[in-house]
Amino acid sequence: MLKGKHIILGITGGIAAYKAAMLARLLVKAGAEVQPIMTPSAREFITPLTLSTLTGKPVITEFFTANTGEWHSHVDLGLWADAMVIAPATACTLAKMACGVADNMLVTTYLSARCPVFAAPAMDLDMWAHPTTARNIAALKGDGVAIIEPAAGELASHLTGKGRMEEPEKIAATLADYFRKGTQLSGKKVLITAGPTHEMIDPVRFIGNYSSGKMGFALAEECAARGAEVVLVTGPVALKSNSDRIRRVDVVSACDMLAACEKEFEDCDMAILCAAVADYRPEVKADKKLKREGREELDLRLVRNPDIAATLGAKKGDRLLVGFALETDSEHENALRKIKNKNLDWIVLNSLRDPEAGFGKDTNKVTILSASGKEEAFPAKSKREVAADIIDSVFGKGIN
Ligand code: CTP
Repeated sequence: MLKGKHIILGITGGIAAYKAAMLARLLVKAGAEVQPIMTPSAREFITPLTLSTLTGKPVITEFFTANTGEWHSHVDLGLWADAMVIAPATACTLAKMACGVADNMLVTTYLSARCPVFAAPAMDLDMWAHPTTARNIAALKGDGVAIIEPAAGELASHLTGKGRMEEPEKIAATLADYFRKGTQLSGKKVLITAGPTHEMIDPVRFIGNYSSGKMGFALAEECAARGAEVVLVTGPVALKSNSDRIRRVDVVSACDMLAACEKEFEDCDMAILCAAVADYRPEVKADKKLKREGREELDLRLVRNPDIAATLGAKKGDRLLVGFALETDSEHENALRKIKNKNLDWIVLNSLRDPEAGFGKDTNKVTILSASGKEEAFPAKSKREVAADIIDSVFGKGIN
């Protein structure tokens, strides 16, 4: 899977830097082209000569080469790479990445990279456990960086705990797995709904809900990263999608969303219905702004909105249909009822009783249930990781 792939290997200044030589060797042996970028302090731990000999490429550290005045373009490097892996990633570099402190070639290239980025942290156990590091890791996960968790064991400080960089073999296997997954959904068209719907009362007011769209956008990014062609039908949200495999269709109301979905569903292989669709809309939308004068009370008559999931479920044929259920009580019972009523294959259940789940959060905690009786509960994770769990559940972890 790594043959011919362009990989930037970022090395930062920690004792685990010596393991980067092994990682470089493994990647090169698997057929990848590896470009090492070292931070200045990484060069204190391992010589650039080792890395350049193993990879056959000059190691880059500075923006300019002294004497020749040659400029290393972080933008070109970012475009060249199919993947970037930072191993070891120190607490300092992780913090710089999380905040965009582009004061060296490595972080600048990270900010320019359009490819997926992996980071294998390595540090002492207290640094790993520090709330600052936890915050930076959460921010990076939210930005789509895949964190290859450190292992537990004896550390360079002779303390024992979590913080040891994962073994080079496992890091190389994670990269190979990523490239394998990159083709898992190729040739498939996936329809995803996201965000809230706004049901207009008059030209300036609406009935809506707190959905941010983050879960649906994370699902769209994940499906696109696995090679799918994605149509993202989204209600009003303040989010952007990055992949050119995602075609975005903006809608406002539930009726607009249904119309867009029915059109796109025809040639889809799968639909994931993540939107928080308003169940009711005002029967009449006033043409002009409703005035307060002369009105002590205002009655709004609401009528039922169409159920998009059920409408698609009724004509799904052999397409896969995945729904969501955000519940406050009787969670399982409600989720199973929704599978049946809407003719879903899978449902992703989250409960508002879990503090890590719910609208606007960067994390989610879900249980995934299938119509055939499968069930798996996951711990709280970033929404991108939850998206990966959902796709793994539906398509199986054995890729291709
Ligand atoms: N859904 C939909 N169209 C609607 C309402 C819901 O497509 N009008 C979809 C949601 O996107 C989600 C699933 O159906 O995938 C369940 O949504 P939810 O709001 O939890 O269920 P409802 O059927 O509206 O039931 P209730 O609000 O009574 O819990």
